[in-house]
Amino acid sequence: MDQDLIDRIKSDMAYEFARTAPPEGFPAFHDIPVGRHISDEFYALEQEHLWPKTWAMAGRAEDIPNPGDYFVFKDLGVPLLIVRGNDGDVRCYYNTCQHRGAPVVRDDRGSSRRLRCQYHSWTYEIDGGTLVSLPDERDFVDFNWEERCLPRALADEFAGFIFVNRDLDAKPLLDWIGPAAEMFAPFQAESLREVYRESIIVPCNWKVTAEAFLEVYHFRHIHSHNGVSVLDNLGAAMGLYPNGHSRMITPYSRQNIERLGMKSWDDWRDIDNGDFGIIDTVPAMIDCTSSAVSLFPNVIIPLGKIGFPINLFWPIDKRTTRLDWIYYAPKDWEGDELPDHWQMRRNQYNTIMDEDKANMAPMQESMESPALTGIPINYQERRIWNLHEEIDRMIGKQNIPAELRVEELLDRYIER
Ligand code: FES
Ligand SMILES: [Fe+2]
Repeated sequence: MDQDLIDRIKSDMAYEFARTAPPEGFPAFHDIPVGRHISDEFYALEQEHLWPKTWAMAGRAEDIPNPGDYFVFKDLGVPLLIVRGNDGDVRCYYNTCQHRGAPVVRDDRGSSRRLRCQYHSWTYEIDGGTLVSLPDERDFVDFNWEERCLPRALADEFAGFIFVNRDLDAKPLLDWIGPAAEMFAPFQAESLREVYRESIIVPCNWKVTAEAFLEVYHFRHIHSHNGVSVLDNLGAAMGLYPNGHSRMITPYSRQNIERLGMKSWDDWRDIDNGDFGIIDTVPAMIDCTSSAVSLFPNVIIPLGKIGFPINLFWPIDKRTTRLDWIYYAPKDWEGDELPDHWQMRRNQYNTIMDEDKANMAPMQESMESPALTGIPINYQERRIWNLHEEIDRMIGKQNIPAELRVEELLDRYIER
């Protein structure tokens, strides 16, 4: 996030405030087909083509600091085992023993220089999943050791986060994140630590939850308190990155500008963050706006000088999503008990999430009504379209019935 990007965002905001219509030539979106959120067919397409092929955020590097440290990750719908290899790189394997299918490791996390299945002690090494020993080999006829290695998936790290991908042909993690990495640059994210985590079940399709975090069109309607919204959505400056990622920087409202002693929406200055430890390389813009970055398909990160929550949307079934948020920050205290200022921050953020949940929870039922024939998306909701375009590229146009597709319209707005 260099000065050039910050200047660009500032001029984008001035443009957004001043415009009276979408930019000249901006495409008219057709309605997003409702079936993408409510049909079994589309859910099955995502399960078959999207989740097995996308990079997904699975955990943190500091959770497995040493060779042999591992944890189990099941949120992609299959049990995976993520382990740090002897060379310090992370590896991912399917946690399914190639003998009779027992989980290779049973604990959610642990440390072991060898991966030994507890059922009959077939043993795999951590660097390549090679089967290195099994009891009573004499009793197998023509045993082929190579065929019985632990199947692997891809694993890599970015900004202290471990990502995995079941598709061995996927592009490398850093290529996939691409220019969206610029949003993380000032945050020293490797050095941040988990402060707290929450998890709720929301009874709606995972895209309903993701979409609620991709726009601020709803903000003053859902998140105003005593008639005051802290954000002014009319100045929201968005950027679309390749591979479905995006950013959104939203200026503060007039009331919030006054409250903070700013002179104008772009009077970006260091704000007093009280007792919170701050990340001192983070630019003042972050303190004086709402700045968020999204990573396809299910990660939304509202950035802050005191750190950030990672919001994750995991599909449980077509109508059910698990929404996790895990706050990472410079942590200068020991233990799990939160200092008062953090407890306050937690309560504030939970309030926003409660408001979003109360809004999203009844949506599935009403979307499934025949009354909804299509979902019109406007210019300030274009990050949602960006998400849907990428979903279709992942699934493959040819696999999607024509009436469920979205057209590719945003290509020339992608920042490469
Ligand atoms: S199932 Fe793992 S060793 Fe038999
Ligand atoms: Fe919201």
